[in-house]
Amino acid sequence: MSELIYLLAAVLFILSIRGLSAPKSARLGNFLGIAGMMLAIVTALALIPSERLLPIISALTTGAIIGIVSGQKVRMTALPQMIAAFNGLGGLAAVFLAAGEVAAAGTHYFASSIGLVIGALAFSGSMVAFAKLEGIISGKALSFPFQHTLNLLLFALTAVLFFGFAFLHSEWMFWLLTATALLLGLLLVLPIGGADMPIVISVLNSYSGWAAVSIGFMLNQTLMIITGTIVGASGAILAFVMTKAMNSSLIHIMLGGAARLRQTDKAAEAEKGTARSGSPEDAAFIMENAEKIIIVPGYGMAVARAQHVLKEMADLLRQKYHAEVRFAIHPVAGRMPGHMNVLLAEANVSYDEIFEMEDINRAFSDTDVAYVIGANDITNPIAKTDTSSPIYGMPVLDVAAAKTVFFVKRSLSSGYSGVDNPLFYNENTIMLYGDAKAVTEAVVKELEK
Ligand code: TAP
Repeated sequence: MSELIYLLAAVLFILSIRGLSAPKSARLGNFLGIAGMMLAIVTALALIPSERLLPIISALTTGAIIGIVSGQKVRMTALPQMIAAFNGLGGLAAVFLAAGEVAAAGTHYFASSIGLVIGALAFSGSMVAFAKLEGIISGKALSFPFQHTLNLLLFALTAVLFFGFAFLHSEWMFWLLTATALLLGLLLVLPIGGADMPIVISVLNSYSGWAAVSIGFMLNQTLMIITGTIVGASGAILAFVMTKAMNSSLIHIMLGGAARLRQTDKAAEAEKGTARSGSPEDAAFIMENAEKIIIVPGYGMAVARAQHVLKEMADLLRQKYHAEVRFAIHPVAGRMPGHMNVLLAEANVSYDEIFEMEDINRAFSDTDVAYVIGANDITNPIAKTDTSSPIYGMPVLDVAAAKTVFFVKRSLSSGYSGVDNPLFYNENTIMLYGDAKAVTEAVVKELEK
Protein backbone atom coordinates (compact mmCIF):
# COMPACT_ATOMS: atom_id res chain seq x y z
CA MET A 1 0.00 0.00 0.00
CA SER A 2 2.72 2.47 1.02
CA GLU A 3 4.52 1.85 -2.30
CA LEU A 4 1.35 2.83 -4.15
CA ILE A 5 1.03 6.05 -2.17
CA TYR A 6 4.71 6.80 -2.81
CA LEU A 7 4.08 6.27 -6.50
CA LEU A 8 1.19 8.73 -6.34
CA ALA A 9 3.48 11.24 -4.59
CA ALA A 10 6.08 10.76 -7.35
CA VAL A 11 3.42 11.44 -10.01
CA LEU A 12 2.45 14.61 -8.12
CA PHE A 13 6.10 15.74 -8.11
CA ILE A 14 6.37 15.23 -11.86
CA LEU A 15 3.10 17.13 -12.47
CA SER A 16 4.40 19.83 -10.14
CA ILE A 17 7.54 20.34 -12.24
CA ARG A 18 5.36 20.45 -15.33
CA GLY A 19 3.14 23.11 -13.73
CA LEU A 20 6.15 25.16 -12.69
CA SER A 21 7.35 25.37 -16.29
CA ALA A 22 4.88 28.17 -17.16
CA PRO A 23 3.86 31.21 -15.08
CA LYS A 24 0.14 30.52 -15.61
CA SER A 25 0.27 27.04 -14.11
CA ALA A 26 3.01 27.74 -11.54
CA ARG A 27 0.65 28.13 -8.56
CA LEU A 28 -1.02 24.82 -9.35
CA GLY A 29 2.43 23.24 -9.81
CA ASN A 30 3.51 24.52 -6.41
CA PHE A 31 0.34 23.18 -4.82
CA LEU A 32 0.81 19.73 -6.40
CA GLY A 33 4.39 19.62 -5.12
CA ILE A 34 3.27 20.46 -1.59
CA ALA A 35 0.51 17.85 -1.77
CA GLY A 36 2.97 15.19 -2.97
CA MET A 37 5.41 16.01 -0.18
CA MET A 38 2.69 15.96 2.49
CA LEU A 39 1.51 12.59 1.22
CA ALA A 40 5.06 11.21 1.31
CA ILE A 41 5.77 12.56 4.82
CA VAL A 42 2.51 11.29 6.32
CA THR A 43 2.99 7.84 4.75
CA ALA A 44 6.58 7.62 5.99
CA LEU A 45 5.48 8.65 9.49
CA ALA A 46 2.72 6.05 9.50
CA LEU A 47 5.29 3.33 8.86
CA ILE A 48 7.54 4.31 11.77
CA PRO A 49 7.04 2.47 15.10
CA SER A 50 5.43 4.85 17.60
CA GLU A 51 8.33 4.68 20.12
CA ARG A 52 10.66 6.21 17.49
CA LEU A 53 8.28 8.97 16.43
CA LEU A 54 9.16 11.62 19.03
CA PRO A 55 12.68 12.59 17.82
CA ILE A 56 11.51 12.47 14.22
CA ILE A 57 8.51 14.73 14.82
CA SER A 58 10.69 17.14 16.85
CA ALA A 59 13.18 17.37 13.98
CA LEU A 60 10.34 17.81 11.46
CA THR A 61 8.76 20.58 13.52
CA THR A 62 12.06 22.43 13.98
CA GLY A 63 12.78 22.19 10.25
CA ALA A 64 9.25 23.31 9.36
CA ILE A 65 9.47 26.36 11.67
CA ILE A 66 12.85 27.39 10.23
CA GLY A 67 11.49 26.88 6.69
CA ILE A 68 8.28 28.88 7.29
CA VAL A 69 10.02 31.78 9.06
CA SER A 70 12.82 32.11 6.51
CA GLY A 71 10.39 31.69 3.61
CA GLN A 72 8.28 34.56 4.91
CA LYS A 73 11.20 36.81 5.77
CA VAL A 74 13.40 36.36 2.73
CA ARG A 75 13.81 39.32 0.38
CA MET A 76 13.20 38.47 -3.26
CA THR A 77 16.78 39.50 -4.07
CA ALA A 78 18.09 37.10 -1.40
CA LEU A 79 16.29 34.03 -2.79
CA PRO A 80 19.37 32.58 -4.54
CA GLN A 81 21.36 32.41 -1.29
CA MET A 82 18.41 30.91 0.58
CA ILE A 83 18.14 28.22 -2.09
CA ALA A 84 21.90 27.66 -1.77
CA ALA A 85 21.70 27.27 2.02
CA PHE A 86 18.75 24.86 1.99
CA ASN A 87 20.21 22.92 -0.88
CA GLY A 88 23.46 22.54 1.06
CA LEU A 89 21.51 21.11 3.98
CA GLY A 90 20.12 18.45 1.60
CA GLY A 91 23.71 17.47 0.83
CA LEU A 92 24.55 17.40 4.53
CA ALA A 93 21.57 15.09 5.14
CA ALA A 94 23.06 12.67 2.60
CA VAL A 95 26.40 12.78 4.50
CA PHE A 96 24.63 11.98 7.78
CA LEU A 97 22.69 9.11 6.22
CA ALA A 98 25.92 7.65 4.84
CA ALA A 99 27.49 8.03 8.32
CA GLY A 100 24.45 6.20 9.74
CA GLU A 101 25.04 3.34 7.31
CA VAL A 102 28.66 3.06 8.51
CA ALA A 103 27.66 3.22 12.19
CA ALA A 104 25.03 0.53 11.66
CA ALA A 105 27.55 -1.59 9.70
CA GLY A 106 25.15 -1.70 6.76
CA THR A 107 25.71 -3.41 3.45
CA HIS A 108 25.31 -0.65 0.86
CA TYR A 109 28.78 0.84 0.99
CA PHE A 110 29.02 1.67 -2.70
CA ALA A 111 25.75 3.64 -2.84
CA SER A 112 26.50 5.36 0.46
CA SER A 113 29.98 6.41 -0.75
CA ILE A 114 28.44 8.05 -3.81
CA GLY A 115 25.85 9.79 -1.62
CA LEU A 116 28.56 10.86 0.80
CA VAL A 117 30.90 12.37 -1.80
CA ILE A 118 28.23 14.20 -3.79
CA GLY A 119 26.40 15.28 -0.63
CA ALA A 120 29.58 16.66 0.98
CA LEU A 121 30.50 18.49 -2.25
CA ALA A 122 27.01 19.97 -2.47
CA PHE A 123 27.12 21.02 1.20
CA SER A 124 30.47 22.82 1.31
CA GLY A 125 30.02 24.26 -2.20
CA SER A 126 26.57 25.60 -1.31
CA MET A 127 27.88 27.16 1.90
CA VAL A 128 30.55 29.03 -0.08
CA ALA A 129 27.88 30.13 -2.59
CA PHE A 130 25.69 31.31 0.29
CA ALA A 131 28.57 33.23 1.91
CA LYS A 132 29.49 34.88 -1.40
CA LEU A 133 25.95 35.97 -2.21
CA GLU A 134 25.24 37.16 1.31
CA GLY A 135 28.46 39.22 1.26
CA ILE A 136 30.01 37.27 4.18
CA ILE A 137 33.03 36.62 1.96
CA SER A 138 34.06 38.46 -1.20
CA GLY A 139 31.89 37.67 -4.20
CA LYS A 140 34.91 38.01 -6.47
CA ALA A 141 36.51 35.06 -8.20
CA LEU A 142 39.30 33.98 -5.83
CA SER A 143 42.23 32.40 -7.54
CA PHE A 144 45.58 31.27 -6.18
CA PRO A 145 48.70 29.63 -7.63
CA PHE A 146 48.47 25.96 -8.61
CA GLN A 147 44.72 26.05 -8.04
CA HIS A 148 43.83 23.62 -10.82
CA THR A 149 46.72 21.28 -9.90
CA LEU A 150 45.60 21.24 -6.28
CA ASN A 151 42.00 20.52 -7.31
CA LEU A 152 43.17 17.72 -9.57
CA LEU A 153 45.28 16.15 -6.81
CA LEU A 154 42.42 16.45 -4.34
CA PHE A 155 40.06 14.91 -6.87
CA ALA A 156 42.45 11.96 -7.35
CA LEU A 157 42.76 11.48 -3.56
CA THR A 158 38.95 11.58 -3.22
CA ALA A 159 38.62 8.96 -5.96
CA VAL A 160 41.16 6.65 -4.26
CA LEU A 161 39.43 7.04 -0.88
CA PHE A 162 36.05 6.52 -2.52
CA PHE A 163 37.00 3.09 -3.87
CA GLY A 164 38.98 2.33 -0.72
CA PHE A 165 35.95 2.95 1.49
CA ALA A 166 33.45 1.34 -0.90
CA PHE A 167 35.39 -1.93 -0.96
CA LEU A 168 37.33 -2.04 2.33
CA HIS A 169 34.64 -0.43 4.54
CA SER A 170 37.20 1.11 6.83
CA GLU A 171 35.93 3.84 9.13
CA TRP A 172 38.98 6.11 8.97
CA MET A 173 38.65 6.13 5.18
CA PHE A 174 35.06 7.24 5.58
CA TRP A 175 36.06 10.27 7.63
CA LEU A 176 38.98 11.13 5.38
CA LEU A 177 36.72 10.82 2.34
CA THR A 178 34.22 13.15 3.99
CA ALA A 179 36.98 15.69 4.64
CA THR A 180 38.42 15.59 1.10
CA ALA A 181 34.96 15.85 -0.50
CA LEU A 182 34.10 18.84 1.73
CA LEU A 183 37.41 20.52 0.84
CA LEU A 184 36.89 19.82 -2.86
CA GLY A 185 33.45 21.48 -2.77
CA LEU A 186 35.01 24.51 -1.10
CA LEU A 187 37.88 24.80 -3.57
CA LEU A 188 35.65 24.27 -6.60
CA VAL A 189 33.27 27.10 -5.75
CA LEU A 190 35.70 29.66 -4.25
CA PRO A 191 37.25 30.56 -7.64
CA ILE A 192 33.85 31.30 -9.18
CA GLY A 193 32.66 34.92 -9.28
CA GLY A 194 29.40 36.01 -7.64
CA ALA A 195 27.93 36.69 -11.07
CA ASP A 196 28.02 33.05 -12.03
CA MET A 197 26.65 31.94 -8.66
CA PRO A 198 23.05 31.21 -9.78
CA ILE A 199 24.42 28.71 -12.28
CA VAL A 200 26.69 27.16 -9.66
CA ILE A 201 23.74 26.89 -7.27
CA SER A 202 21.79 25.10 -9.95
CA VAL A 203 24.66 22.65 -10.45
CA LEU A 204 24.97 22.08 -6.69
CA ASN A 205 21.21 21.61 -6.52
CA SER A 206 21.58 18.94 -9.15
CA TYR A 207 24.37 17.31 -7.06
CA SER A 208 22.17 17.11 -3.99
CA GLY A 209 19.51 15.43 -6.14
CA TRP A 210 21.99 12.77 -7.29
CA ALA A 211 23.18 12.35 -3.68
CA ALA A 212 19.55 11.64 -2.74
CA VAL A 213 19.35 9.04 -5.56
CA SER A 214 22.35 7.15 -4.12
CA ILE A 215 20.92 7.33 -0.63
CA GLY A 216 17.60 6.12 -2.08
CA PHE A 217 19.43 3.03 -3.40
CA MET A 218 21.13 2.61 -0.03
CA LEU A 219 17.82 2.73 1.83
CA ASN A 220 15.90 0.90 -0.88
CA GLN A 221 13.54 3.87 -1.15
CA THR A 222 11.94 4.18 -4.59
CA LEU A 223 10.38 7.60 -3.88
CA MET A 224 13.75 9.02 -2.88
CA ILE A 225 15.30 7.67 -6.09
CA ILE A 226 12.54 9.24 -8.21
CA THR A 227 12.59 12.56 -6.33
CA GLY A 228 16.38 12.71 -6.41
CA THR A 229 16.34 12.09 -10.14
CA ILE A 230 13.83 14.91 -10.67
CA VAL A 231 15.98 17.32 -8.61
CA GLY A 232 19.21 16.13 -10.24
CA ALA A 233 17.88 16.36 -13.78
CA SER A 234 16.05 19.67 -13.36
CA GLY A 235 19.08 21.30 -11.70
CA ALA A 236 21.30 20.15 -14.56
CA ILE A 237 18.81 21.30 -17.22
CA LEU A 238 18.39 24.69 -15.54
CA ALA A 239 22.16 25.20 -15.37
CA PHE A 240 22.39 24.31 -19.05
CA VAL A 241 19.58 26.70 -20.02
CA MET A 242 21.16 29.54 -18.02
CA THR A 243 24.65 29.05 -19.42
CA LYS A 244 23.17 28.94 -22.91
CA ALA A 245 21.22 32.18 -22.36
CA MET A 246 24.41 33.87 -21.10
CA ASN A 247 26.35 32.36 -24.00
CA SER A 248 28.70 30.71 -21.55
CA SER A 249 29.51 27.11 -20.71
CA LEU A 250 29.87 25.19 -17.46
CA ILE A 251 33.55 24.47 -18.13
CA HIS A 252 34.13 28.18 -18.76
CA ILE A 253 32.37 29.08 -15.52
CA MET A 254 34.18 26.44 -13.43
CA LEU A 255 37.60 27.35 -14.82
CA GLY A 256 37.30 30.87 -16.09
CA GLY A 257 36.57 33.13 -13.13
CA ALA A 258 39.91 34.90 -13.39
CA ALA A 259 39.79 35.24 -17.16
CA ARG A 260 36.35 36.79 -16.91
CA LEU A 261 37.55 39.43 -14.46
CA ARG A 262 40.49 40.40 -16.65
CA GLN A 263 38.23 40.82 -19.66
CA THR A 264 35.87 42.94 -17.61
CA ASP A 265 38.63 45.38 -16.64
CA LYS A 266 39.61 45.78 -20.26
CA ALA A 267 36.06 46.33 -21.42
CA ALA A 268 35.42 48.85 -18.64
CA GLU A 269 38.12 51.05 -20.12
CA ALA A 270 36.05 51.58 -23.27
CA GLU A 271 35.79 55.18 -24.35
CA LYS A 272 32.75 57.07 -23.11
CA GLY A 273 30.73 59.79 -24.87
CA THR A 274 28.23 62.26 -23.47
CA ALA A 275 24.98 60.94 -22.13
CA ARG A 276 21.83 63.04 -22.34
CA SER A 277 19.65 63.09 -19.26
CA GLY A 278 15.99 63.97 -18.86
CA SER A 279 13.41 64.47 -16.14
CA PRO A 280 10.32 62.43 -15.24
CA GLU A 281 8.29 65.29 -16.82
CA ASP A 282 10.12 64.75 -20.14
CA ALA A 283 9.49 61.02 -19.92
CA ALA A 284 5.79 61.52 -19.14
CA PHE A 285 5.40 63.99 -22.01
CA ILE A 286 6.98 61.67 -24.57
CA MET A 287 5.05 58.64 -23.36
CA GLU A 288 1.71 60.50 -23.34
CA ASN A 289 2.20 60.99 -27.05
CA ALA A 290 3.46 57.49 -27.80
CA GLU A 291 1.37 54.79 -29.43
CA LYS A 292 3.59 51.82 -28.70
CA ILE A 293 5.67 51.38 -25.56
CA ILE A 294 7.82 48.46 -24.45
CA ILE A 295 8.98 48.22 -20.85
CA VAL A 296 12.25 46.34 -20.25
CA PRO A 297 12.77 45.46 -16.58
CA GLY A 298 16.10 44.30 -15.13
CA TYR A 299 17.88 43.69 -11.87
CA GLY A 300 17.51 47.33 -10.71
CA MET A 301 13.70 47.02 -10.83
CA ALA A 302 13.99 44.12 -8.38
CA VAL A 303 16.36 46.06 -6.10
CA ALA A 304 14.07 49.11 -6.07
CA ARG A 305 10.90 46.98 -5.84
CA ALA A 306 9.45 49.11 -8.60
CA GLN A 307 7.13 46.49 -10.10
CA HIS A 308 3.94 47.80 -8.51
CA VAL A 309 4.40 51.40 -9.63
CA LEU A 310 5.49 50.11 -13.04
CA LYS A 311 2.18 48.28 -13.37
CA GLU A 312 0.42 51.51 -12.36
CA MET A 313 2.32 53.39 -15.08
CA ALA A 314 1.45 50.76 -17.71
CA ASP A 315 -2.26 50.83 -16.78
CA LEU A 316 -2.35 54.60 -16.85
CA LEU A 317 -0.69 54.79 -20.28
CA ARG A 318 -3.12 52.26 -21.62
CA GLN A 319 -6.31 53.64 -20.09
CA LYS A 320 -5.73 57.38 -20.17
CA TYR A 321 -3.47 57.69 -23.21
CA HIS A 322 -4.58 54.60 -25.22
CA ALA A 323 -1.03 53.39 -25.75
CA GLU A 324 -0.13 49.78 -26.43
CA VAL A 325 2.15 48.78 -23.53
CA ARG A 326 4.07 45.52 -23.39
CA PHE A 327 6.78 44.06 -21.18
CA ALA A 328 9.88 42.44 -22.72
CA ILE A 329 11.66 39.81 -20.64
CA HIS A 330 15.22 38.71 -21.32
CA PRO A 331 15.91 35.10 -20.21
CA VAL A 332 18.66 36.19 -17.77
CA ALA A 333 17.24 39.56 -16.66
CA GLY A 334 17.78 39.98 -12.91
CA ARG A 335 19.73 37.42 -10.95
CA MET A 336 17.77 34.21 -11.14
CA PRO A 337 15.66 32.37 -13.69
CA GLY A 338 12.17 33.84 -13.97
CA HIS A 339 13.14 36.72 -11.66
CA MET A 340 11.23 39.38 -13.63
CA ASN A 341 8.24 37.10 -14.27
CA VAL A 342 7.83 36.45 -10.55
CA LEU A 343 7.99 40.15 -9.67
CA LEU A 344 5.59 41.21 -12.42
CA ALA A 345 3.18 38.42 -11.39
CA GLU A 346 3.40 39.74 -7.80
CA ALA A 347 2.28 43.14 -9.14
CA ASN A 348 -0.59 41.46 -11.05
CA VAL A 349 0.73 42.27 -14.51
CA SER A 350 -1.28 40.07 -16.85
CA TYR A 351 0.58 37.23 -18.60
CA ASP A 352 -0.56 38.38 -22.03
CA GLU A 353 1.29 41.68 -21.57
CA ILE A 354 4.58 39.86 -20.97
CA PHE A 355 6.71 38.73 -23.93
CA GLU A 356 9.84 36.63 -24.09
CA MET A 357 12.81 38.15 -25.90
CA GLU A 358 12.51 36.11 -29.08
CA ASP A 359 8.83 37.00 -29.43
CA ILE A 360 9.24 40.77 -29.07
CA ASN A 361 12.73 41.66 -30.24
CA ARG A 362 11.65 42.55 -33.75
CA ALA A 363 8.91 44.85 -32.44
CA PHE A 364 11.35 47.48 -31.11
CA SER A 365 11.85 48.96 -34.61
CA ASP A 366 8.11 49.68 -34.70
CA THR A 367 8.01 51.11 -31.15
CA ASP A 368 7.91 54.72 -29.97
CA VAL A 369 9.37 54.27 -26.51
CA ALA A 370 11.50 51.62 -24.81
CA TYR A 371 11.37 52.21 -21.02
CA VAL A 372 14.41 50.31 -19.73
CA ILE A 373 14.15 50.15 -15.97
CA GLY A 374 17.11 48.92 -13.90
CA ALA A 375 18.39 46.86 -16.83
CA ASN A 376 21.77 47.12 -18.45
CA ASP A 377 23.65 44.03 -19.74
CA ILE A 378 20.54 42.55 -21.35
CA THR A 379 20.39 45.54 -23.72
CA ASN A 380 24.12 45.95 -24.36
CA PRO A 381 24.89 45.71 -28.12
CA ILE A 382 28.58 45.10 -27.27
CA ALA A 383 27.45 41.50 -26.81
CA LYS A 384 27.10 41.31 -30.60
CA THR A 385 30.38 42.93 -31.61
CA ASP A 386 33.15 42.82 -29.00
CA THR A 387 34.66 39.35 -28.97
CA SER A 388 36.78 40.22 -25.90
CA SER A 389 33.72 41.17 -23.84
CA PRO A 390 32.51 38.71 -21.18
CA ILE A 391 28.98 39.03 -22.56
CA TYR A 392 30.04 38.39 -26.17
CA GLY A 393 27.51 36.13 -27.87
CA MET A 394 24.70 36.70 -25.35
CA PRO A 395 21.54 37.58 -27.29
CA VAL A 396 20.28 41.03 -26.22
CA LEU A 397 17.09 43.08 -26.45
CA ASP A 398 17.34 45.51 -29.40
CA VAL A 399 15.98 48.50 -27.47
CA ALA A 400 18.01 51.02 -29.55
CA ALA A 401 15.70 50.32 -32.51
CA ALA A 402 12.88 52.16 -30.70
CA LYS A 403 12.38 55.87 -31.49
CA THR A 404 13.21 56.94 -27.90
CA VAL A 405 14.94 54.87 -25.25
CA PHE A 406 14.70 55.78 -21.57
CA PHE A 407 17.21 54.21 -19.21
CA VAL A 408 16.04 54.44 -15.61
CA LYS A 409 19.07 53.89 -13.36
CA ARG A 410 21.07 55.76 -10.77
CA SER A 411 24.23 56.39 -12.77
CA LEU A 412 26.12 55.44 -15.92
CA SER A 413 27.79 52.55 -14.14
CA SER A 414 27.86 49.07 -15.55
CA GLY A 415 25.73 46.10 -14.56
CA TYR A 416 26.60 42.61 -13.46
CA SER A 417 29.17 41.88 -16.16
CA GLY A 418 31.08 45.11 -15.50
CA VAL A 419 30.86 46.17 -19.14
CA ASP A 420 30.09 49.75 -20.14
CA ASN A 421 26.93 50.14 -22.21
CA PRO A 422 27.40 52.33 -25.34
CA LEU A 423 23.62 52.79 -25.66
CA PHE A 424 23.72 55.40 -22.87
CA TYR A 425 25.49 57.74 -25.31
CA ASN A 426 23.16 57.17 -28.27
CA GLU A 427 21.25 60.12 -29.76
CA ASN A 428 17.86 58.55 -29.12
CA THR A 429 18.68 57.66 -25.49
CA ILE A 430 17.53 59.73 -22.52
CA MET A 431 18.89 58.80 -19.08
CA LEU A 432 16.43 59.14 -16.21
CA TYR A 433 18.77 59.13 -13.23
CA GLY A 434 17.52 57.93 -9.89
CA ASP A 435 16.08 54.98 -8.04
CA ALA A 436 13.81 52.97 -10.35
CA LYS A 437 10.81 53.21 -8.03
CA ALA A 438 11.22 56.93 -7.22
CA VAL A 439 11.64 57.89 -10.90
CA THR A 440 8.65 55.82 -12.03
CA GLU A 441 6.53 57.25 -9.22
CA ALA A 442 7.43 60.74 -10.43
CA VAL A 443 6.49 59.76 -14.02
CA VAL A 444 3.15 58.37 -12.80
CA LYS A 445 2.45 61.64 -10.96
CA GLU A 446 3.02 63.57 -14.19
CA LEU A 447 0.86 61.17 -16.20
CA GLU A 448 -1.97 61.60 -13.70
CA LYS A 449 -2.02 65.39 -14.10
P1 TAP B 1 22.46 44.38 -14.82
O1 TAP B 1 23.17 44.32 -16.10
O2 TAP B 1 23.14 43.85 -13.60
O3 TAP B 1 22.08 45.92 -14.62
C1 TAP B 1 21.26 46.32 -13.58
C2 TAP B 1 21.35 47.81 -13.48
O4 TAP B 1 20.39 48.19 -12.50
C3 TAP B 1 22.69 48.33 -13.00
O5 TAP B 1 23.47 48.81 -14.07
C4 TAP B 1 22.32 49.43 -11.97
O6 TAP B 1 22.78 50.70 -12.46
C5 TAP B 1 20.80 49.41 -11.97
N1 TAP B 1 20.24 49.52 -10.63
C6 TAP B 1 20.60 48.89 -9.50
N2 TAP B 1 19.83 49.28 -8.48
C7 TAP B 1 18.96 50.19 -8.97
C8 TAP B 1 17.92 50.96 -8.40
N3 TAP B 1 17.60 50.88 -7.11
N4 TAP B 1 17.22 51.78 -9.20
C9 TAP B 1 17.54 51.90 -10.52
N5 TAP B 1 18.51 51.18 -11.10
C10 TAP B 1 19.22 50.34 -10.34
O7 TAP B 1 21.05 43.65 -14.87
P2 TAP B 1 20.23 43.05 -16.10
O8 TAP B 1 20.23 44.00 -17.24
O9 TAP B 1 18.96 42.58 -15.51
O10 TAP B 1 21.11 41.81 -16.56
C11 TAP B 1 21.26 40.69 -15.76
C12 TAP B 1 22.72 40.32 -15.63
O11 TAP B 1 22.85 39.35 -14.58
C13 TAP B 1 23.27 39.70 -16.90
O12 TAP B 1 24.63 40.03 -17.06
C14 TAP B 1 23.12 38.22 -16.60
O13 TAP B 1 24.01 37.41 -17.34
C15 TAP B 1 23.48 38.20 -15.12
N6 TAP B 1 22.97 36.99 -14.45
C16 TAP B 1 21.67 36.66 -14.56
C17 TAP B 1 21.23 35.49 -14.00
C18 TAP B 1 19.80 35.11 -14.16
S1 TAP B 1 19.44 33.56 -14.16
N7 TAP B 1 18.87 36.02 -14.31
C19 TAP B 1 22.09 34.68 -13.29
C20 TAP B 1 23.43 35.08 -13.16
C21 TAP B 1 23.84 36.22 -13.75
P3 TAP B 1 23.06 51.90 -11.44
O14 TAP B 1 24.04 51.39 -10.46
O15 TAP B 1 23.57 52.99 -12.31
O16 TAP B 1 21.74 52.25 -10.82
